[in-house]
Amino acid sequence: MNFIFRKMTLDDLEQVVAIDQISFSLPWPARSFFFEYDNPVSRCWVADLDGRVIAMMVGWLFVDDIHIATFATHPDFRRQGIGKALFFHTLKSAKAEGARTAFLEVRESNIAAIEMYRQFGFIENGRRKGYYKDNQEDAILMSLGHLPEDE
Ligand SMILES: CC(C)(COP(=O)(O)OP(=O)(O)OC[C@H]1O[C@@H](n2cnc3c(N)ncnc32)[C@H](O)[C@@H]1OP(=O)(O)O)[C@@H](O)C(=O)NCCC(=O)NCCS
Repeated sequence: MNFIFRKMTLDDLEQVVAIDQISFSLPWPARSFFFEYDNPVSRCWVADLDGRVIAMMVGWLFVDDIHIATFATHPDFRRQGIGKALFFHTLKSAKAEGARTAFLEVRESNIAAIEMYRQFGFIENGRRKGYYKDNQEDAILMSLGHLPEDE
């Protein structure tokens, strides 16, 4: 599949919000994506297939740590390696900007995402009890001590 990664633009936001809404039980309000688009610490990426946004990622770069804020692949395009490739792209680009470590939170029931993070070498190092307000599910805290080398 001939997709590319590029920085999110204002024109992408409608599609990004749609992916967010279809992917999460507690989606972000659209205004959060507008805010992140302009936030100097944010790194906002999309996977683009012939002009269509098929995956999106927002990370926060805090000095030498990239914190994954939100990340999803459109349901029609899952299990095709796009999420993994976008995640790798985000980590690699954060590394080029000086990041050394990565951090994220994930629902404990989100087996697909947890599997992927483990593949990257993330380890679980904490949890926030009842973090998700829709069902009081715990958040698993995961971190990666060394960002990946180029493949
Ligand atoms: C998590 C998510 C982004 C993965 O995107 P994707 O494009 O389908 O991911 P990939 O095809 O690159 O798969 C990467 C790895 O994730 C894991 N994975 C993905 N879907 C899975 C599933 N349904 N069950 C188990 N593992 C799964 C596998 O380890 C897979 O590697 P493999 O194909 O070599 O086995 C996608 O499922 C999604 O958008 N989920 C809803 C939003 C979400 O949960 N985001 C993460 C919030 S922390």
